[in-house]
Formats: sequence, structure tokens, C-alpha cells
Amino acid sequence: MRAPAPALAAPGFDGVGLCLRADATLSCADGALVLAEGHVRSVFRAPDAMTAAVLEALDRGAVDDDGLFTMAMERGGDRGAMALELLLRRLTSGGWLEHVVVAAGTEIARSIPLGHVIKVATRRVRPTDRVGLSRFALLRRGDGGLLAESPLGAAQVLFQGPVGPAVVAAASEALTVDALAASVTGANAAAVAALAQALVDAAVLVIEGGDRAADGDAEPGSPDELWSLPDLLFHTRSRVGRNEGGYGGTYRWEGRREPAPAVRPRFAPAIELPCSDLTARALTDPPLADVMRRRRSVRVHDDDRPIDIGRLGELLARVGRVGAVFHDGHQELSARQLPSGGALHELELYPLVNRCDGLAPGLYHYDAQGHALGLVSEPDPRTILLAEYAKRTAIMDTMPQVVLLVTARFDRSMWKYESMAYALSLKHVGVLYEATYLAATAMGLAVCALGGGNSDAFAAASGIDPLVEATVGEMVIGSRPAHLPDDDWRPRDHAPPLDSRNGEG
Ligand SMILES: Cc1cc2nc3c(=O)[nH]c(=O)nc-3n(C[C@H](O)[C@H](O)[C@H](O)COP(=O)(O)O)c2cc1C
Repeated sequence: MRAPAPALAAPGFDGVGLCLRADATLSCADGALVLAEGHVRSVFRAPDAMTAAVLEALDRGAVDDDGLFTMAMERGGDRGAMALELLLRRLTSGGWLEHVVVAAGTEIARSIPLGHVIKVATRRVRPTDRVGLSRFALLRRGDGGLLAESPLGAAQVLFQGPVGPAVVAAASEALTVDALAASVTGANAAAVAALAQALVDAAVLVIEGGDRAADGDAEPGSPDELWSLPDLLFHTRSRVGRNEGGYGGTYRWEGRREPAPAVRPRFAPAIELPCSDLTARALTDPPLADVMRRRRSVRVHDDDRPIDIGRLGELLARVGRVGAVFHDGHQELSARQLPSGGALHELELYPLVNRCDGLAPGLYHYDAQGHALGLVSEPDPRTILLAEYAKRTAIMDTMPQVVLLVTARFDRSMWKYESMAYALSLKHVGVLYEATYLAATAMGLAVCALGGGNSDAFAAASGIDPLVEATVGEMVIGSRPAHLPDDDWRPRDHAPPLDSRNGEG
């Protein structure tokens, strides 16, 4: 990324200048001008003199409306001025422009677009508009200044100096833009109005009477009422477009940090698990369609005939065992039964054993390459707390025989993936859940997925740094009581057979 474009050079200037976003490049190829950022391109084929002059000026630094207008008139007269409007609209909606707010010749804020699908704001902020801080507004340290943003916005606002932060602080109570300017010492009204516009466009401030109340609260019944800030921020920033920085497999840590190995270093002492011949199992397992039809969440375990080490080991092998380790030129990868984004397989399995024939209670780690269990912790109040959480979450009357704790080794996925690594791990948990449901059902075991767990309790019990590896999923597993009906009370087979849906029945 190049350095941010310099603000307008004119001393004493008050207003807004436009420039190309810092991560975009402008190049010339086969008579066309090409704007590029990441995988996104905007091509201007055979650009006229006005288009070329404006794009090149925006590439050099911030230009204000008057400067752009003069440039367009000089190169195309009235038609040039009209074409300029269209060009700026295209650049704004394509997310190519930064807006630089300048007061007395000094940059005080810069609005930086996120992504390339920007709804061009049609609502201009008036001095008498009442504005207030959105309940989704966030203020944090950005690259070279304080950054204001909202997951509802398609731009972030980077402040220089104290005026911007003071405006945000003053807007924690809804007030008119004029009153906002009056309440910030040393700020001129034009600069505050321009700041208010940038902050409204970035959804950090909301205008009363718009689609949200100016006190920042959602209107009753509105869609955003349901959302919390952490949920909405995670959702928007982990989807391509309104993410921050690169997206996908950018390998941004390559050469700067060592990648984590494909197989997690094992814990000692190790307990060998009985060998499970999954190829032989394929001949005796019930058919997949039957397993899928019979799959249920079972929250009772038969403590008279608990699960044993052989079956626990087989279940772990079915969903976790490493087939092969290989290198793709960037990092070590592995081949396993389950699919995994980038073949990274960052999930690890930690059986917390309460009752299992042939295995002492304790917290274990599954060594997916050696097909062994490494002891992480003997039972103690911290492991009991973990089991209690699972029992309560699964609404069980007795302690689960085994809680299968699922961690993600974040350094594996975050080393390669940008913006989406954590979301990817949660997707992997879904993959693992269903595979475990199916394997356990085929084996006649009881299994139930859990929607949440306490990662701090796991960190305390395991001693593992939760920023390196933390629980992202939990399941309870045990022996299935023989008396349980194969089918439960819920209607299942209400869908017509596939053939009849194809028009044959
Ligand atoms: C991602 C996920 C989270 C779940 N969380 C819980 C949970 O926290 N507690 C629980 O008792 N069951 C949980 N379940 C099981 C569901 O309650 C169960 O799948 C649902 O009631 C349908 O029943 P069935 O699995 O028997 O078809 C979860 C299932 C999934 C897939």
C-alpha cells in the first residue's frame, strides 16, 4: 500500500478533498487506464482527456470539488463537467475514493472505503439535523490515528488531531450539527459539518428521522434490533467486501513468522489407542442413507455399560485421524477424513473423560497422527467445571461420559487466511459436528452437539494460551442406552420420496 495521499496543499483551505484510496493502483495498459485493488479492477477503456486528467490528479493527492470542476471544464467544457459527475459517481460507488476533511489547511479526518460496493449517500447532513452516535460505533487505534467505524458502514474514518474524536464524544448525546460544532472547542462549523457528513456516511453517526433513532437505539421492530455489536462486526468483517485489509489466502505472515506444523506437538505421557481398521469398518457399517435417517441428538448415556477406549479411539480415528502430511510450498498440510479449508486442519480434539472403560478420567488430547491420547490434566476442579458446563448445556441429568472439546489452533489458519480465518474455523466445527454425529450413529453411540462452551475454563484446565489455541466447539459422547427407541417422537419422514418430487408420484 502506498502512503496516504497528501491533503490539499492550499493553505487555509476548509472543506473536503477527494483522492484514490491508498491501497489502489492506477496503471495504463493497451490504451486503457486500470484501477486495481486486490482482485478488483475498474477499467477505463480509451479514456477521454478529462477522465485521464482527473484519475491522474486523484492518484497524486487530494483535490477539492472546485479543482476537479476546473479540470473538467478545461478539458471538456460543459460536457466535461457533466461527465465528471458520472465519473465521480462511478468512483464513489466502486469504493475507489477517500474523502479528506481539511480544516484551515490541515487534514483532520479521512474517510476510507471498505470494499467496492458502496451505496452512494444521497442524504446530505444539514446544520439543523440532529445526529447521535450509533450503538454500533467503535473507536480504536487505526493506522496513523484514531479510527471510527461501524459494521453498518462501508467506510472507516481515520482522525488526525483532537477535533474528530471530540465530535464523536459530543455526539454520544443526540444534538444538531450546529450544536455539535458549538460544543467542540476550537472547531469551525464547516469542518464539523464535513466531519458529521463523513461520520454519517460511515454509519458512525445516525441522523434522527432517518432509518434509525438519533439516540443510537434501533427502532423497535427494525432488523438491526436483533443484532449485537460483536455479532454484526464479526459478520461484516469476515465476509468479503467490508473486511479490513486483504481477504482469503494472502499469506501475509509468510517470511515474518514460522508457520505452525500440520500436526500439533503431542502431550506426554501418551496412551496408545487400539488400532481401528476403518477400511474393514466400511464393509460392516450401515448404509449412509440409513445412518443419516437415524441420526439424533442423544442426551442420555448408559452408565452401566459405558463407552470404552476402543470405541472412543475408533470414533476419534473416524473424524480426526491424519492420513498423510505434505507441503504445498507455503506450509505443511495434511490429508484427513474431513474436508478442511486449505487442508489446514487447524481443529484439535480433546476428550474430557469422565467414564470410559479402559481409560482413567482426565483431560486428554487426541494425537491425530500417532492415534494416541496424551494426558493434558488429571481430573481436578477445573476439568470438573468444564464437564459441568457441558452437562448443563446438554440438559443432562448425569455427567456426560465424554465431553469432546474442539479447539482451533489459530496460528495455523491465521498465518494463511486474512479476514476470514476465525469464521472458517467455525465452519470447520460444523463439518466436524455432522461427521461426528454420523460416525457415532453408525457405531451406535450417543452424541449431542453443544452450541457453546467456556473457552476460559478450557484455558484454565489445559494451561494453553487461548490466543494460540482455544475451544470453539463441544460435543457430549457416551454409550447409547439400549432401551432408547431407534426413532423418536418428532416427525421426520414427512417429505415425499425423492422420486415423487421428480414428478413420478
Ligand atoms: C451447532 C449445534 C448446536 C447445538 N447446541 C446444543 C446445545 O447447546 N444443547 C443441546 O442440548 N443440544 C444442542 N444441539 C442439538 C440440537 O438441539 C438438536 O440437533 C436439535 O434439537 C434437533 O434434534 P436432532 O439432533 O435429534 O435431530 C445442537 C446442535 C447443533 C448442530
